[in-house]
Formats: sequence, C-alpha cells, structure tokens
Amino acid sequence: MKRRLKFLIPILLVMASCKYDFILPVPETPVASGVSFATQVVPIFTTGNKCTSCHKTGGQSPDYTAAKAYNSIVPSLINASAPNQSAIYTIAGPSTSTHNWKKFSASEAAIILQWITEGAKNN
Ligand code: HEC
Repeated sequence: MKRRLKFLIPILLVMASCKYDFILPVPETPVASGVSFATQVVPIFTTGNKCTSCHKTGGQSPDYTAAKAYNSIVPSLINASAPNQSAIYTIAGPSTSTHNWKKFSASEAAIILQWITEGAKNN
C-alpha cells in the first residue's frame, strides 16, 4: 500500500500541474485608459511599416495606412461583446496567431485590446 502511494502521488501532482497550465492567463502589460486610435493604435501598424508593408492601399487587404485603417477595422474586425475575440486582436496576436508574417508584441496587443474594450473609437 505504502509503495503504491509513493508511486501515485508524483503522478497526481504532475496531472494537477498540467491541468493548471491550461488556465494560466497570458500576462499582459497594463495599459492606461483613454487609448487614442490615431496616436497609439495606428503607429503599431505603420511604424517601420510593420503591417503596412503588406496591408496598404493597392496591397493586401485590410488597408492599415493611417487614412484607411479605421474603416478597415471597424466594424468588420471588432467583436464588441467579446473584445478579446476580435479578429484584429486574435489574427496577429502574439500567441494565438497563425498569421506568421508579423505579429503584435505583448504590449502592442494590450493597447489594441484596451482600445476595443473602450469602444473602438475613432479618436
Ligand atoms: C508580409 C506581408 C504581411 C505583413 C507584414 C502583415 N500581414 Fe496581415 N496578412 C497578410 C496576408 C497575405 C493576409 C491574407 C491571408 C490570410 O488571411 O492569412 C493577411 C491577413 C491579415 C488579416 C485577416 C484579414 C481578414 O479580413 O480576415 C489581419 C487581421 C491581418 N492580416 C493583420 C495584420 C497585422 C495587424 C499586421 C501587423 C502586425 C500584419 N497583418 C502584417 C500579409 C501580411
């Protein structure tokens, strides 16, 4: 009996730790409220042409250049009732993506999510 317990306890511990791995949240950098689309969100796409090297006028849709970005994203890539399921957040998200060309860093993703949570305003 004792020997069987010695054998079982480590297995149970491993199983328990695996279980909790699945529910650990992805750590996110906190973002101050009042995110501006023009000064915080658009630069994520355009700085160094991170997204706009492909997603530009006459290029791959959606067009993320400053003049077109808002209408490319809102409402089609926004899920207002579940912001973290918005396509603009998930498709190029740092961990969830299959879009391997370029992805958001964790801090960029946090800004995008905060902006959606605040109503995806054209501000
Ligand atoms: C090297 C080119 C390239 C870069 C850079 C790039 N993408 Fe893409 N993206 C594509 C291509 C090609 C597609 C279409 C194929 C697909 O959906 O997988 C696409 C599709 C998408 C879609 C899906 C659009 C839809 O209507 O379903 C989103 C959202 C997206 N990209 C976001 C981004 C973001 C955000 C960035 C910058 C962090 C970025 N992409 C950078 C090539 C690129």
